[in-house]
Amino acid sequence: MSNTLFDTAPDFHQPIAVLKHCHDRIRKQLATLARLPDHLAAHGADAEAQKAAQVVLKYFNHAAQLHHDDEEQNLVPMLQATARDADLALLAELVPGILADHAAMDQDWALLQGQLAAIASGAGAALSAENVQRFCDAYAAHMAKEEAHIAPMAKRLFSPEQMAQLGSAMQVRRGLSPTLPASQVPEQQQVPVHNTVADGVVLADLRLDYGRASLTEHDVLDDPIAQFGKWFDEALHARVNEPNAMSVATVDADGRPSSRIVLIKQFDARGFTWYTNYASQKGRQLDANPHAALLFFWSELERQVRIEGTVVKTSAEESDKYFYSRPLKSQISAIASQQSAPIANREQMETRYEAVAAASGEHPVRPEHWGGYRLDPVRIEFWQGRRSRFHDRIVYLKQADGSWRKERLQP
Ligand SMILES: Cc1cc2nc3c(=O)[nH]c(=O)nc-3n(C[C@H](O)[C@H](O)[C@H](O)COP(=O)(O)O)c2cc1C
Repeated sequence: MSNTLFDTAPDFHQPIAVLKHCHDRIRKQLATLARLPDHLAAHGADAEAQKAAQVVLKYFNHAAQLHHDDEEQNLVPMLQATARDADLALLAELVPGILADHAAMDQDWALLQGQLAAIASGAGAALSAENVQRFCDAYAAHMAKEEAHIAPMAKRLFSPEQMAQLGSAMQVRRGLSPTLPASQVPEQQQVPVHNTVADGVVLADLRLDYGRASLTEHDVLDDPIAQFGKWFDEALHARVNEPNAMSVATVDADGRPSSRIVLIKQFDARGFTWYTNYASQKGRQLDANPHAALLFFWSELERQVRIEGTVVKTSAEESDKYFYSRPLKSQISAIASQQSAPIANREQMETRYEAVAAASGEHPVRPEHWGGYRLDPVRIEFWQGRRSRFHDRIVYLKQADGSWRKERLQP
């Protein structure tokens, strides 16, 4: 029995106790939620029901999400990095289920949230008893599993430094400054490391939870180029910032990779085309190794597309067509720049530009070292962000007969 007058929370020096305390609070909220359907049937959305709905909403919209993040972003990864042998095997068995539970509970919560919001404002009195029951049962089973296996394992395996690290991350997530005694601050945090951005936000804690859309094997088109076109149109309509900007990763003759952003200018059944200087670093790398990878990240839509394949130069006619469609000044820039070669200063670049402009007048000629590259894809992956890092990934793999095979990848 508790010998304190109040329900005091353990502090963040004992992060596992804090997580257990969160479970206890979740249980209290679940008990309130479980009583609501009967109360509503008897009294409608009276003041008591409204208050209960408000409290439950507040808790599961905010605190419970932080709790899931503590587990997914800190506790579980730290355990996975620390556990060995039987512990590691147990984690491999349990963690996918724990993450799936979070995603399923998030989905169930989304169903309840709308009804509770209506009750909280007195605008409605409907609440699905079946959904409430499923949500409460799922949470109860989930917490029991964590308390039986995960919490004891963390208590057994984590060093004081790891406990301090976990507690500190949990505090930062709640907007609190870590208040650890110096002796408990993990050593790596005492040396100056560039892990913070503005306002002391920890870089590792900068993350968004994605929940905008989903992607199933049935949603996607059979042809990945058509699917890319669909997503590209959606990116345009959503006014994504620079939807045509993609990263191009190439590898040099020694196997060392590098990447940069370029603008896609065309895509069709033959592949994905961009224009550049053939004598640039990427040009030299592609000469040595034609394998490359493209990447689009459309953050506003929580989408990523990864494309891999081999690269060929576009025909001279195609390169001409694009080169002469560009504004005159861009044509002159392309001629004046020995892309990726060092130069002493900006003035020398300007002088070179003026000289090219004077020499070529209104009709510059496309230099042979400037033109297009087209990546002929063998693998195209569509990634849709989902809640709690349980993302959707559908990959298309090109088969020997030229057809595409689709499969789902784990997040
Ligand atoms: C938004 C954006 C678009 C770009 N588009 C192109 C492009 O279409 N072609 C190009 O050669 N470089 C483009 N660049 C510049 C490249 O990122 C890179 O600096 C240049 O191609 C030299 O790369 P390299 O030295 O690896 O060859 C772009 C850069 C940005 C940030």
